[in-house]
Amino acid sequence: MWYLEIFLVFLSLIMFCRSIREKNGIPTNWPIVGMLPALLINIHRIHAFVIELLDKCHLTFHFKGPWFTNMDMLATLDPINVHHVMSKNFGNYPKGEKFHEMLDVLGDGVVNTDGLVWQYHRKMAHAFLGHQKFYHFMVKKTWDKVENGLIPLLNHICDHEIIVDLQDLFTRLTFDTICCIIMNQDPKALSIDFPSNPASKALDEAEAVIFHRYVVPTFVWKFQRWLNVGKEKKYKEAWEILDSFIYKCIEAKREELSKEGICQDGDEISNNDLLSLYIEEDENQKTPIGTRGDKFLRDTILNNLLAGRDTTSTTLSWLFYLLSKNPNVVSKIRKELDSVMLTRENFKEENSKLVYLHASLCETLRLYPPVAFEAKAPIEHDVLPSGHHVNPNMQIIFDTYAMGRMKSIWGEDCCEFRPERWISEQGKLQHEPSYKFFSFNAGPRTCLGKNMAFTQMKVVAATVIRNYDMQVVEDHLVVPDLSIILHMKYGFKVKMMRVHCD
Ligand code: HEM
Repeated sequence: MWYLEIFLVFLSLIMFCRSIREKNGIPTNWPIVGMLPALLINIHRIHAFVIELLDKCHLTFHFKGPWFTNMDMLATLDPINVHHVMSKNFGNYPKGEKFHEMLDVLGDGVVNTDGLVWQYHRKMAHAFLGHQKFYHFMVKKTWDKVENGLIPLLNHICDHEIIVDLQDLFTRLTFDTICCIIMNQDPKALSIDFPSNPASKALDEAEAVIFHRYVVPTFVWKFQRWLNVGKEKKYKEAWEILDSFIYKCIEAKREELSKEGICQDGDEISNNDLLSLYIEEDENQKTPIGTRGDKFLRDTILNNLLAGRDTTSTTLSWLFYLLSKNPNVVSKIRKELDSVMLTRENFKEENSKLVYLHASLCETLRLYPPVAFEAKAPIEHDVLPSGHHVNPNMQIIFDTYAMGRMKSIWGEDCCEFRPERWISEQGKLQHEPSYKFFSFNAGPRTCLGKNMAFTQMKVVAATVIRNYDMQVVEDHLVVPDLSIILHMKYGFKVKMMRVHCD
């Protein structure tokens, strides 16, 4: 299929050059190939392309793909449309079959389902994540990882003047933590010898291929899958690695539970992880049809790994990147940390006082939202508040990255990193509605791990900012990767130094 792709790119090049001359950058809808040439030619700078395009088109643009493909997409950044689709008329906008098919590696997990199965996941996740016991468990696991994993590793890196990729380091940290939290199993990816981590790598690979599936016509990736070549071959391999890792974890958990039994109300927390909860429901046959057996458990775990690993590690990576460009913000965070001495014992009471650190994280999430876009498929014809008509053959795409960088939404200084934007005159955190600050999604599908994410990110960020200085490796290029998660393409290579107290 590579020659078809080359041909399409070549065709795109010619047509796009012409379309620029003709229409000032607004893609031309060509016969047969539709607007695909403009998309392919801009794919390497997709985020900038969407920002420029949607700025010109008053936040909404109807993209038509090639004839006989179902690439019919309405891209919108308009908060009133977001509110309508995500909340007001939620029932008409499931994720849809196409989304389910493109993210098929996720199976029937929470991120990838609609209807009853999704409601079941949501109920379970609510019960799990909203429980006081879980909160203590999560805070404990996070501090354990920071004190026993992160600090010794960073000290080792400083002492040996090792250049480290902070993105890789944070991914290892969040992979360990999320595995501890959802399965109570620690893969110890965050170790001095940086062990190879096939499951974590496979997750990166799968995410990149899913992005590719979005930008090529469905028949192209399906044909590649059928031939088992190119990106689809890598996807299949990644899928097998993930299956093998997760099924082993399920087996180990079942064995552990058969020995110890499930003690839901006891003090012993070890069986109160998410996987144990699902297994108990499964064994007691409390679960609805379609939500039973190891395959369903595997889907559940994989979705939660994806939801909890990359989002948090990506935000931390971009935070430190932004801090490297804004030393004045580092000074302000340090000043705040001097006045609020955060420890594992006082964390619950004190962490809400870290207003400036929280604001810096929100500002990072605005500029670099880890889930860079969201897709919905209308069940019935509808008219969006912006006046655009949508129908069941279309997908609606929300580009979260572009939303955070629109002057009409965030003001003239929208591209500046300014945590003060999130602080009210009274010195409190400034709330922004979720359909404007869309990084955690909005409406009934709002992220369930938001509190957990802020807890983790604050503990990690406070520890690193307080104790270490950082110097970015000269000429290291930091750009977003093409993936469904906003990773840094080449990582974030830095030199770390201990902060010396006088
Ligand atoms: C900075 C960190 C995080 C960000 C920015 C974030 C963002 C999001 C977004 C945008 C969605 C919607 C995804 C979609 O529908 O396609 C989502 C869903 C979800 N997130 Fe998070 N997330 C974060 C951390 C976490 C963590 C740590 C967990 C814990 C396991 C978590 C659990 C979930 C779950 C279960 C869903 C599915 C909700 C549903 O579809 O009903 N998230 N998150």
